[in-house]
Amino acid sequence: MGEPTIEDYLRENRTFPPPPEFVARAVVADDSIYAEAEADFEAFWARRARETLTWYDDFHTVLEWDLPFAKWFVGGTLNVSYNCLDRHVEAGRGGKVAYYWEGEPGDTRTITYAELLEEVCRFANVLKSLGVQQGDRVAIYMPMIPELPVAMLACTRIGAAHSVIFGGFSPDSIIDRVNDAEAKLIVTADGGFRRGTVSALKPNVDAAIASTPSVEHVVVVRRTENDVSMVEGRDHWYHDLMAEASADCPPVKMDSEALLYLLYTSGTTAKPKGIMHTTGGYLAQVAYTHKVVFDLHPDDDVYWCAADIGWVTGHSYIVYGPLTNGATSVIYEGTPDTPGRDRLWAIVEKYGVTQLYTAPTAIRMFMKWGHEEPEKHDLSSLRLLGTVGEPINPEAWMWYYRYIGGERCPIVDTWWQTETGAHMITPLPGVTTLKPGSATFAFPGIGVEVVDDHGRPVERGGGYLTLTRPWPAMLRGIWGDPDRYRETYWSRFPGRYFAGDGCKIDDDGYLWLLGRVDDVMNVSGHRVSTTEVESALVDHEAVAEAAVVGASDPTTGQAIIGYVILKQRFEPTPELVEEIRQHVAVKIGPTARPRTVVVVPDLPKTRSGKIMRRLLRDVAEGRQLGDTTTLADASVVEEIRQRALEAPQED
Ligand code: PRX
Repeated sequence: MGEPTIEDYLRENRTFPPPPEFVARAVVADDSIYAEAEADFEAFWARRARETLTWYDDFHTVLEWDLPFAKWFVGGTLNVSYNCLDRHVEAGRGGKVAYYWEGEPGDTRTITYAELLEEVCRFANVLKSLGVQQGDRVAIYMPMIPELPVAMLACTRIGAAHSVIFGGFSPDSIIDRVNDAEAKLIVTADGGFRRGTVSALKPNVDAAIASTPSVEHVVVVRRTENDVSMVEGRDHWYHDLMAEASADCPPVKMDSEALLYLLYTSGTTAKPKGIMHTTGGYLAQVAYTHKVVFDLHPDDDVYWCAADIGWVTGHSYIVYGPLTNGATSVIYEGTPDTPGRDRLWAIVEKYGVTQLYTAPTAIRMFMKWGHEEPEKHDLSSLRLLGTVGEPINPEAWMWYYRYIGGERCPIVDTWWQTETGAHMITPLPGVTTLKPGSATFAFPGIGVEVVDDHGRPVERGGGYLTLTRPWPAMLRGIWGDPDRYRETYWSRFPGRYFAGDGCKIDDDGYLWLLGRVDDVMNVSGHRVSTTEVESALVDHEAVAEAAVVGASDPTTGQAIIGYVILKQRFEPTPELVEEIRQHVAVKIGPTARPRTVVVVPDLPKTRSGKIMRRLLRDVAEGRQLGDTTTLADASVVEEIRQRALEAPQED
């Protein structure tokens, strides 16, 4: 048996069983599917794939596993847009709303399944008319407008793979991604609305395109009406082409293992990895998890995943999962503080949102803004909450539970990655007793083990999170680089997928994610996770958000430096800072007490909201900053550097 390799300090004893009225209607109301999946995980997934999706040809083999290369539902054929659209319309549900779209300025569109199908067919014909063929790659660089899912679905209809590039990325990021994928066409928009102003997109494409020789055409959606330059023959307005296009476009029969999309994720080197997802396995796991983890009742629910479609969360749980399940969803274009800090809550009230899925970084921001904002609105339509993207600190979980969920909504804390494609560790809301801050248990059929440095399973305490068997939505590789795929995910622990995250198991077998193992600190020989110290800091009533890093220290190896954002009503006095520092010692123990706590106005984050601890380490150790290209707001680090210089140094 393995030895724990990461300290286990934090104890959380609060538990929340599923409310009886929730269980009474739950899609999954008892735990028998765990046993079913454990008995034969291939049969479990095969049954879900057949029940959830419509296939043209049934598959003859559930799984071909040649580690680390998997093929799922071999021999099966299907079309993703058919599963997302046509079959609902054919079943008489064409008038059902697929998306309530809300633009940031307050303009809206309500789009039914029949309307979405028609627009997708037209755009699929547009793509064909511009030379896009089955097997080609199409880059999509757009704001959060309905034409974004339309473009994605149109690709799937004709068997082209899409590569969505997040709309906040720069021309350099477009160049890297378009060239790596050798995309033939880019779909973009003049711009999108963010924080009350136009965020231009087409000019970024113009700046990139001299360096992307594979691109033959650019299609531009008119959204913001800012001036854009159009190159005759290469650039086309979406509305011009759509006006001419036929609404008749039969879906192409695709192999279960055909490439569905590439989505680039940054790795340890500057070159982003093109994560490959394929058709049948991805759609089956995404749709099934969407149904049971969010307890979807498609006839009654208005579901809202408040992520950006440019990230995997949006791909899986705004576009493919909800549409496959015939759900009604909300899409919002803009930022949560426009025009006021209650915009999300206004949207929940307006549409009667029943499930809300967002990230811990957003929840901590709402905490900082205060519970007065959600209290301006009637949030009683909500019946389930979800979180994804980072470990959620227990106090942030409690705040979400209390002020957003009205102490009535289960919270599903879902652990997964761009690479996993779909939920992997998560509660089932009608079954699982929740503990604030724990993602609880592996989803049925998923093999999770925490291991020590030697790859031996750890039964209690902290170690490395690994996955022990293939799963349908797993990445099929890194585009153009099978060696990097094997090296990155399958070499650290032979036979296992290494996720790069730390994780601990408590006495009841609950899983607690501990953050990226690259961030784990070594203090006097103790391996301390950033997550546990940050949770202890956020546990103090004055702290809204915290990030900790290890900085080299002559006596302890590394010393913990904490950066904290205070809630709005607190002043950063030296007494308060000392109290916060001591709070960690009381909450989880003196080894984890930060040497220094620095009050900062903001933290460096990636554009998807993850804290970039690497840059904070550079600050703490007085180094030049490393690669900052993925940073959302570069000025934040300078400000933190100043505050760090002014902060008192404790021993
Ligand atoms: O570190 C884990 C964290 O986010 C990483 C995956 O990031 P990305 O590929 O951008 O996908 C994010 C959306 C799925 C993971 O390796 N992470 C994600 N969800 C959780 C989490 N950490 C703790 N708890 C979670 N629920």
